[in-house]
Amino acid sequence: MGILSKSDRRERDAHSGHGVAIDHPVIRPWSPIVESPGRVVADRALGERLWDFDGTEYIDASSLNAACGYGRPEVVAAASDQMARLQGIDLSMHDHDIAGLLARRLSAHLPHGLSRILFTNSGSEGIEAACFIAASYYAHIGRPRTRVVTFARGYHGSTTLARSLSQLPPTAHWFTDPLRVTPVTIPGTDRDARDPATTPLLLAAFAEAITQDPADLPMAVLVEPLINVGGGVVLPPGFLRGLRELCDEHGVLLIIDEVFTGIGRTGRMFGFQHEEITPDIVVSSKGLSGGYAPIAAVAIQDHIYRTFVDDAFFGGVRYGHTTSGHPVACAASIAVLDVIENDGLVENARIMGTRLLDGLASSTGHSLVRDVRGLGMLAILEMDGHDSATALAEGARKHGLLVRQQGPVVMVVPPLTADADVIDDIVSRMASALDGVEG
Ligand SMILES: Cc1ncc(COP(=O)(O)O)c(C=O)c1O
Repeated sequence: MGILSKSDRRERDAHSGHGVAIDHPVIRPWSPIVESPGRVVADRALGERLWDFDGTEYIDASSLNAACGYGRPEVVAAASDQMARLQGIDLSMHDHDIAGLLARRLSAHLPHGLSRILFTNSGSEGIEAACFIAASYYAHIGRPRTRVVTFARGYHGSTTLARSLSQLPPTAHWFTDPLRVTPVTIPGTDRDARDPATTPLLLAAFAEAITQDPADLPMAVLVEPLINVGGGVVLPPGFLRGLRELCDEHGVLLIIDEVFTGIGRTGRMFGFQHEEITPDIVVSSKGLSGGYAPIAAVAIQDHIYRTFVDDAFFGGVRYGHTTSGHPVACAASIAVLDVIENDGLVENARIMGTRLLDGLASSTGHSLVRDVRGLGMLAILEMDGHDSATALAEGARKHGLLVRQQGPVVMVVPPLTADADVIDDIVSRMASALDGVEG
């Protein structure tokens, strides 16, 4: 029955309606203030399944975090053992091995050189730290720079700095921009973006943004390997490789935002590994702890880290949070990495992701579906507009399937553990939901 007292449960039950709405004083992140009818009031979850308070069962293909599924006993045990042993310590004052172990485990999956890891509590903080580190690096080497080139429709988080990197309307803010940002627009339609013919157009747009004033080169190009919130856009082959070459040519750092794509989601441990490049800085989060605890990791090249001894004020990295590298989050993340490695979940994401995409591809015949695309365990249905995407997500829920809807796009993101039966079940529930919308 969980940790709620009897009276807490009574109050919660009184406000929970029919498992789709709850009247409580929590401000829901990134949500309209008016109640959304499609919202599930989650109670418990196991594997790929989630139950609401009424006991209705759903397959959860909506969580970007649940890499190794819900309720893995080994992750729960690792986190609770760590909580009993040492629940927290300030890494700016003392040390603990568990953070070091996680850093080593993570850098073993990264290309050579990306060996220094800073932990934060969220993806946004990780992106903010990455930008701070990039600007510090240029200050340390005596060439101060603060401009960043990003995708106009990239999403990198909700702190002031992270949101200032994006041109997506909800990220607008009322503060002075902390960095100068040069946004790049994707040429053509989202559907055409993955076509190899887009690669030179995209690279030309980035080259223009980088060199627009040779006396004012950017400190970094910062991109997601696949655009998540900004429309579920799959980028074309050769793009990241070409971007790496452009950055090398102009002496610009390449920061890859793997907050969503990292830890197996795209069928490789990191999304940039599809292109076999070595970024200068990589930020990962969500799947890192599989949603069991908040954590993000900023991996930086050793040569960047070494310049910090020349920091004008400090001789170190002036960035962190009291809970950076939280021992419980680190223990959970190590256990998640164990599951991912031992169960071959990155390979499973590749194989089952293909099955998912192939299954959903038959939906392209529906008149309201503009495109079906994806990479690894991530499938995207682009609908003809916001309303049909909302109707599809709502229809899926009625068929016991939770998916994500962002504007005209519906994303299907099951845990990386999903097997053929779960995938086929998802495909058939989506087909029924689509038939309902078309009807
Ligand atoms: C690509 C990307 N970067 C950064 C973030 C921000 O991460 P967080 O919500 O943990 O702050 C997100 C969150 O959705 C994301 O998808």
